[in-house]
Amino acid sequence: MSAGSGQAIESVLKEGRSFPPPADFAAQANVTPTHYDEMWRRAKDDPEGFWGEQAENLHWFKKWDTVLQGGFADARWFAGGKLNASYNCLDRHLDSWRKNKAAIVWEGEPGDTRVLRYQDLHREVCKFANVLKSLGVKTGDRVTLYMPMIPELAIAMLACARIGAPHSIIFGGFSADAIADRNNDAQSKLVVTADAGWRRGKQIELKGKVDESLQRSTSVQKVVVVRRTGADVDMKPDRDYWWHELMEGASTDCDAESLDAEHPLYILYTSGSTGKPKGVLHTTGGYLLGTTMTTRWVFDLKDNDTYWCTADIGWVTGHSYIVYGPLSNGATTLMYEGAPNWPDEGRFWQIVEKYGVNIFYTAPTAIRAFIKWGDAWPGKYDLTSLRLLGTVGEPINPEAWMWYHRTIGQERCPIVDTWWQTETGAIMISPLPGVTATKPGSCTKPLPGVVPDIVTESGESLPDNQGGLLVMRQPWPSMLRTLWGDHERFVETYLSKIEGCYFAGDGARRDEDGYYWVMGRVDDVLNVAGHRLSTMELESALVSHPGVAEAAVVGYPHDLKGEGICCFVTLKTGEGGEELKKELIDHVRTQIGAIATPDQIRFAASVPKTRSGKIMRRLLRDIAAGKETIGDTTTLEDYGVLAKLREESEG
Ligand code: WTA
Repeated sequence: MSAGSGQAIESVLKEGRSFPPPADFAAQANVTPTHYDEMWRRAKDDPEGFWGEQAENLHWFKKWDTVLQGGFADARWFAGGKLNASYNCLDRHLDSWRKNKAAIVWEGEPGDTRVLRYQDLHREVCKFANVLKSLGVKTGDRVTLYMPMIPELAIAMLACARIGAPHSIIFGGFSADAIADRNNDAQSKLVVTADAGWRRGKQIELKGKVDESLQRSTSVQKVVVVRRTGADVDMKPDRDYWWHELMEGASTDCDAESLDAEHPLYILYTSGSTGKPKGVLHTTGGYLLGTTMTTRWVFDLKDNDTYWCTADIGWVTGHSYIVYGPLSNGATTLMYEGAPNWPDEGRFWQIVEKYGVNIFYTAPTAIRAFIKWGDAWPGKYDLTSLRLLGTVGEPINPEAWMWYHRTIGQERCPIVDTWWQTETGAIMISPLPGVTATKPGSCTKPLPGVVPDIVTESGESLPDNQGGLLVMRQPWPSMLRTLWGDHERFVETYLSKIEGCYFAGDGARRDEDGYYWVMGRVDDVLNVAGHRLSTMELESALVSHPGVAEAAVVGYPHDLKGEGICCFVTLKTGEGGEELKKELIDHVRTQIGAIATPDQIRFAASVPKTRSGKIMRRLLRDIAAGKETIGDTTTLEDYGVLAKLREESEG
């Protein structure tokens, strides 16, 4: 999709259904309509006063002097305040009955389980924080976590937060090259990994990839390895250490550092429209406030809930809504290591039944897979414990929403469709389950304190029901503060496009009821199975193959993944065949990782470009989607003909 120049984006989706909150749900909700109105008014009249009041929900070692200093480009939230995220997620629950409450309920893919009560988790985190210190990690040093979905990942995160060493988590599906790039950019001092992880009954190698990445490392000194599967690994003396050996002798005493509210909590790399991944930086106070309050408001968390977010902690959803948000609220958060279809397609529903899951948060791409697998799988299990459902990651098709509502929610559970981004840190636009009537496919309305708008490329507000660019008009506490090591790129990417606003990179419209309908990315970023991939990065990966002269990558509608990856490839010499297609697919997988596996490779004699040299992506998108048919090997003339045909048909 392209926004055109100052033109509105045409929105074709029309959806008339509406679902008010069930009365019994509304009656017990954390946020009631009256409460919501109050918060909304307070946030509108005095945003800083509002956020200051909300911040009382965190534990501060020292109270802040000012709520907000500066604007988008130099915002400082809660300046003068001191706190610690690990303290907020652990210590503050220990002098209440929650000491013995389950913090993390974990299930491994093979079926092994672990439950860590708040006091257990606290103890493990203190020990690992001491391990980090003993390996030379100091406040401010970066630590990379490249791990499977095991409790040690959450322990390592909170240990980093405890000593003020920002973590940089790299999703376990990324390649050695991707790890090396991120480690070098962040100048990480230490990597925590595991021998391997389980996925669909197979072992996914992790330590081996880290070893390979370290050949190009400019900063990493030590590696800590969790033994998860028992896979063979090489341990390099004086560099590599076993987690269990280090933990054995570690002290359980470790005070949480008193950190500035703006102390960096973590870096998380995400794709942008240019090649290099962006190191999104989140800081302590504002991020924790955003995740804590949104978890309470949107997921309506109660102390007796079992809450399950199915994301991987390698993505922001896992950071905010498996670890920081739930634990800061003293909740029980469920963590599952493996695939949804192992040993069979009923695994998620078996887990819901086994643990009596009450709140379930997943992605539209997963929902589309469930639909494909058939209603018989959820039908085999008792899902009556569920009381609230959520989705995130991409727009949900109204029909998938309806299936989720009927088959999983049994027409009883409200659905919260939550719009947010790695950059926003926390949920921004979402229903409140006891307040907002939902419409399938809409993320509904902004949360209190969030001020979005829909604008043209020149920044003018658009009237209702006209598609345009989604922006934020006001800073919010959990927003990213910068891109690691590149403040200029931060300003340029998010703050320069629409003056005075944060530009999210999404197209959207607002309807006559003030509901937001997100239409997808307007930049050169694909959303594949809820994961952001940059077309530029994919193109660079293809061009790094010796046979490739030029590449253009576009997305196209894909039944399961939302968007599929289509690569137009121009070769240096000769013609491509099936063999080379396979080779290029493997090449992209080794360069970026399995998440970036191309769905289509199309050899073309040339790539169509505008006079100024820009790839004509709209044309390529249409071809990839099968809207235009052309021969196997496309020439510039063919593209020319297509472009002309379209001009004529569009008048
Ligand atoms: C998309 C994931 C429609 C959007 C938390 C955004 C959504 C990008 C929704 C961020 C939603 C996320 N409805 N689109 N409910 N949630 N998106 O950084 O394009 O991995 O900009 O963060 O996902 O993806 P990210």
